[in-house]
Amino acid sequence: MSSTPNATPAAKPSAAGRYLFLFLLGLVLGVVATVMAMRALDARKDHFPDSVMQVQQWHLNQLKDNVDRNRCAATDTLPHLQTLRTMANDIEPAMGDLRDDERFAKHASQLRATLDGALSAPPLNCAGVGSVLGKVGEDCKACHQDFRN
Ligand code: HEC
Repeated sequence: MSSTPNATPAAKPSAAGRYLFLFLLGLVLGVVATVMAMRALDARKDHFPDSVMQVQQWHLNQLKDNVDRNRCAATDTLPHLQTLRTMANDIEPAMGDLRDDERFAKHASQLRATLDGALSAPPLNCAGVGSVLGKVGEDCKACHQDFRN
């Protein structure tokens, strides 16, 4: 008889392999749970304040592009200035907890005043658009310095 009944089974999983598997499983489940939690938090967040700001930024960038491409006719400029001005009305309603702050309201009305000025005497060339951009940018920055963290 040449059989060897006491031979050790070849594929016995080692303890280290089991721990590694459990560790990786835990890691994957942790990542999945974190992503789910972050998405749930994001869904509950109010996106309106950031959206107002993103739209302002987009119109400001369009005007900058216009200057870069030397397209500064009133028809290129006015629609963006008008939207900037209209959306500026939404800054206080959007930022619920800040709108009662006097300095915040002052920054917002300063931006509206700058845009009112630009709309009542619209820039007709790129130098003019550039100088309006400078003033508007100052107004954005003034409020961000005080209130954006
Ligand atoms: C009266 C105050 C005020 C003015 C004026 C203002 N902002 Fe803001 N802005 C804020 C605050 C406060 C935040 C931070 C809000 C937040 O992240 O919820 C912010 C955030 C932003 C952001 C980041 C938004 C995001 O998705 O996180 C952009 C872009 C932006 N502003 C652009 C502008 C531009 C362009 C202007 C000018 C045309 C402007 N802002 C004028 C107060 C202002």
